[in-house]
Amino acid sequence: MKLKKITVTGGAGYIGSLATRALLDRGYEVQVIDNLSRGHQWAVDKRAAFSKCDLLDRALLSKSLKSFQPEAVIHFAALIQVNESVNQPELYLRNNFEGSRNLLECMKENSISKIVFSSTAAVYGTPESIPIEEGEPLAPVNPYGESKAKTEQLLQHYCQNHQFAGTAFRYFNVAGAHPDGTLGEAHEPETHLIPKILEAARRGEPVKVFGNNYPTPDGTCVRDYVHVMDLVDAHLLALEHQISRKFEAFNLGSERGFSVLEVIRATEKVVGQKIAIEMNERRAGDPPVLIAQSTKATRILGWVRKYPDLSTMIEHALQWHRSCFKTRA
Ligand code: UFG
Repeated sequence: MKLKKITVTGGAGYIGSLATRALLDRGYEVQVIDNLSRGHQWAVDKRAAFSKCDLLDRALLSKSLKSFQPEAVIHFAALIQVNESVNQPELYLRNNFEGSRNLLECMKENSISKIVFSSTAAVYGTPESIPIEEGEPLAPVNPYGESKAKTEQLLQHYCQNHQFAGTAFRYFNVAGAHPDGTLGEAHEPETHLIPKILEAARRGEPVKVFGNNYPTPDGTCVRDYVHVMDLVDAHLLALEHQISRKFEAFNLGSERGFSVLEVIRATEKVVGQKIAIEMNERRAGDPPVLIAQSTKATRILGWVRKYPDLSTMIEHALQWHRSCFKTRA
């Protein structure tokens, strides 16, 4: 049976807003729940029902779900900065874990039992073997990863004890924007590598590189970049996939690693200009290498990436970056 009504938490954020658009384009009815603490009202698709609600406000959350009566929830809402989580661990555990616990309780109260949850590569910490498979132990090294690992474990209990169907997607480094250049990443403050490089290029300033003494070929951290539209596709597949009363975790990455310096070089090619570098100390909580094994998502969900090239991700991010500065200038 095809689902019709989906609630998206965090639908005012980067990935959530693009997922909302994709769902609406496919004919789903969508409710967005977002507290707008980090997301933006302008990013909420006008075609969606919007509830300004914090996941920590249990009464309002339950009321919002009750009024819309979705058949499934895609849960993106979360704080996502590793560095901030190291400085404010309680904030991350409260917002990400307690918020998710409220959501699961409210779903149960309203007889909604299907959920797709945004998890992260940060649940693996500093993994023993690369590429990382889903069976690797969860051993986060920062409170952000810990808040997501704890939520996955709770979700697993809900699947076992309350007949929930739960999919956890462990995102690697999400990049890019809608290919038409009209929607993308707008974090405040922005901390992610590709938008930081684009900003440095636009301003003609050097980009800060956090650490060049990691045990990697060029000394800078290696990450696995995945296009945001491919990530969104995986969520649609998970909704349509008939996993019932079961928990499954999937990595979403591209199975290729790029160092910080390689990403800077690739961006130079896309923007057609040289970008200066300023070497800085390591950033707290950064594991040296994160590369996903993503074959499980392909095997079980039929996930196929449309935009596997780093240069395409950078091109789409650049289009969005330019359109932002045109409208806001
Ligand atoms: N980096 C720089 N300079 C910058 C920004 C980042 O050198 O100005 C470096 C970081 O130190 C890191 C790499 O670029 O080594 C990537 O950093 P990002 O901030 O872009 O991404 P992270 O790898 O820290 O984190 C992202 C998500 C997390 C997720 C993680 C999993 O934001 O939610 O990927 O791989 F957990």
